[in-house]
Amino acid sequence: MKHRIAFISIAPFALAVTASAQAPAAAPIPHLEKRGAVTHLIVDGKPWLGLAGELLNNAASTAENVRPVWPSLAKANLNTALVGVGWGWTEPEEGKFDFSALDGALGDARNNGLHVVLLWFGSWKNGTSSYPPAWVKRNSDKYPVARDKDGKGREILSTLSTTNMEADGRAYAALMRHVREVDSATRTVIMIQMENEVGLLGDSRDRSKEANEAFAGAVPEELMDYLQRNKSTLLPETRKLWDAAGGRTSGTWEEVFGKGAGADEAFMAWHYARYMNRVTELGKKEYPIPVYVNAWLVQPQDKQPGDYPSGGPQAHNHDFWRAGAPRIDILAPDIYLTNFAEIAAMYSRNGNPLFIPETRGDAANAFYAFGQLNAQMFSPFGIERQVGADGPVAAAYGVLQQLAPLIMEHQGNGTMKAVMMDAGTGSQKVQLGNYVFDLAMGRGRGAAPPPAATAGAGRSAAGAPQAAPSGGFGGGRGGPAAARGYAIIIQAGPDDFWVAGANLNIRFSSTVTATPMASLAAVEEGRFVNGAWVVGRHLAGDDTGMGGDDRASLRLTANPGILRVSLYSYR
Ligand code: DGJ
Repeated sequence: MKHRIAFISIAPFALAVTASAQAPAAAPIPHLEKRGAVTHLIVDGKPWLGLAGELLNNAASTAENVRPVWPSLAKANLNTALVGVGWGWTEPEEGKFDFSALDGALGDARNNGLHVVLLWFGSWKNGTSSYPPAWVKRNSDKYPVARDKDGKGREILSTLSTTNMEADGRAYAALMRHVREVDSATRTVIMIQMENEVGLLGDSRDRSKEANEAFAGAVPEELMDYLQRNKSTLLPETRKLWDAAGGRTSGTWEEVFGKGAGADEAFMAWHYARYMNRVTELGKKEYPIPVYVNAWLVQPQDKQPGDYPSGGPQAHNHDFWRAGAPRIDILAPDIYLTNFAEIAAMYSRNGNPLFIPETRGDAANAFYAFGQLNAQMFSPFGIERQVGADGPVAAAYGVLQQLAPLIMEHQGNGTMKAVMMDAGTGSQKVQLGNYVFDLAMGRGRGAAPPPAATAGAGRSAAGAPQAAPSGGFGGGRGGPAAARGYAIIIQAGPDDFWVAGANLNIRFSSTVTATPMASLAAVEEGRFVNGAWVVGRHLAGDDTGMGGDDRASLRLTANPGILRVSLYSYR
């Protein structure tokens, strides 16, 4: 059959993403690379699709504590873990470093075929300075903190202090030197998160003497130059703030950005960006792997900066971050809010690659992020609480892992689409080539409970045990989620498609006027084994529509799986 040829082209990518793939001795250093419209993280020389999860903050503060977790992550089909490294436990005495926890964790990750993203919990974590060593915390004369209007100190290292910045930078550089020494051959560590959800909490800006003086002074020339040079591509939020104050090309912060919280926040964003750029620079001199920062997003109830961390890399601050921190490669959102796609779009502007370091364990969001939004990494927080060999993470990531080479190949091409939906929200239509896919939850005869299993190889046609309705990985922040429908559809040829997902019924029509009807020419349920498609069952009859009202359709059941589908049109 013609379509078989079109389906073959996936093998070259196969090793890029499998959990068991570890770098050969001389693997190139992980780096970002734009291929077509999409920027990929290149790991072991190939585009990497981050089927990741973030460990609880202090999980890897000793190697023993995290040791039991690694096998469960590998079994749940993760290829990467996000692992916190605290400044305090790394440099317990000034200038004396202890990397034993890290070495143990990296060794165990490597043995379980996992890559690692290190989260540098240095000066700040969630706005606060809880991770600096005690010798820093106890000496606020030397390592100053941010202050409120009354001069009262807050437990937040000041961004205005070069001493703070250089101390953080020295520790981070030591960490990166160590990573270079112990990991250059294996490249287990593939990326760094610089600090965590930074920004000033409780006020729109630092009111310390140093901060007040800087705020009363001129906006630095580098920032003014950046704004003028990039005027035509600045984000609308930046233009609005700047234009509202008259679009001046020099002046104090209040003259350039107006009186009020907007100027305060721009000031904080600039100073966080400068500080973290310097720390990143010191680390990249040792070992130049990609670095991102993550954002605590503005919550619906927040009224002003300070309710959320002021000056953090929230979407509306991106120009200040780009201007102040050119060494930082990616600005990333921690998405716990429900408007997932909207937030992802805000973080995809001006070429920013979409990496999602923290989110809820929601399989629909994971499929949608990779299939529709060109995401490169999806990482539920507290992953050790969500994994189990037969659980929903393993099922969803198991499918994504198989599809990863195809996803990487089709991202940004217009030949892949994804949908996600909640029960009761109606159907969605998607067009690929000459076909329209009409996707809905709870449709078709026998929709609830689902009829004979379709997606998910190896299950029997009747009476097979169904996984609990999924969509959410469950067990993460926010608890178990209600069933959601989701699918990725990839066009492999004019009539040929890969369809993967769960909880959906899919019908078809054609855009060709002479042959407006469309249906299933052939359907295979199966899986990829080492990049090769293995058919589990051929589907027709009761498994693709029972006739009459129950039109020919694909049924993606609660257990996510992959179908290879060939369509035809007729009149
Ligand atoms: C967001 C932080 O970035 C994480 O480190 C973690 O503390 C979670 N919140 C907890 O829900």
